[in-house]
Amino acid sequence: MNIIGIIASQRKEGNTAFIVNKLLEGAKDQGAKTQSFHFSDLNINPCRGCMACHKGAEGCVIKDDMQKIYEEMEHADAIVLGLPIYMGQMSAQGKIFTDRLFARFSPKFSPFFKEVVTKQKLVLSFNQGNPDASLFKPYMDYTNHMFEILEFDVREVPVVTDLRSGAIDEREDLCMSLKNFGSALVLEEAHKSVS
Ligand SMILES: Cc1cc2nc3c(=O)[nH]c(=O)nc-3n(C[C@H](O)[C@H](O)[C@H](O)COP(=O)(O)O)c2cc1C
Repeated sequence: MNIIGIIASQRKEGNTAFIVNKLLEGAKDQGAKTQSFHFSDLNINPCRGCMACHKGAEGCVIKDDMQKIYEEMEHADAIVLGLPIYMGQMSAQGKIFTDRLFARFSPKFSPFFKEVVTKQKLVLSFNQGNPDASLFKPYMDYTNHMFEILEFDVREVPVVTDLRSGAIDEREDLCMSLKNFGSALVLEEAHKSVS
């Protein structure tokens, strides 16, 4: 199984990077091939709204690092999208990534990906400073639904909360449950292929 992680935060050693990497670690332990893309290492521009992706057959015409992600997404069975909550919503990096998907992953809008028949798994992993997990739930549910409309098989990881107090790497239960979630993703796929 091939899994890519997208870390939609500018903080290189931040919470989102930690969470996505733990999820990928669990998947790797079960034999998955994993790699992560960190926004702080990439030059990814916002969608220009030029609609060239829908008029032509080449996909997005912005030649930046998103092209590498498009390429890897074509070969990925699952995408782990790590989204920190900034001002009650996904970070700007998360939104830039989401908008750029317009060019590639919407057969309803674009002829480019018509041949996609199997839905790609999308693991949405939100994290936030506030300890109340229900605070942004309507927004998270809405976002899950939006990605489902875009033909993803959305998997929700429980939101990681209370990230203003203490170091995330000291939360052993959290680390374990993130790794278990990553492992389960691979085991589920393996189970499907033998049944
Ligand atoms: C600009 C900014 C806005 C934030 N807004 C919220 C918020 O609205 N609610 C919340 O619970 N946490 C908020 N936080 C806290 C982050 O969600 C939290 O620290 C997260 O783990 C940061 O991830 P990172 O280390 O990968 O950047 C905010 C942090 C920043 C920097």
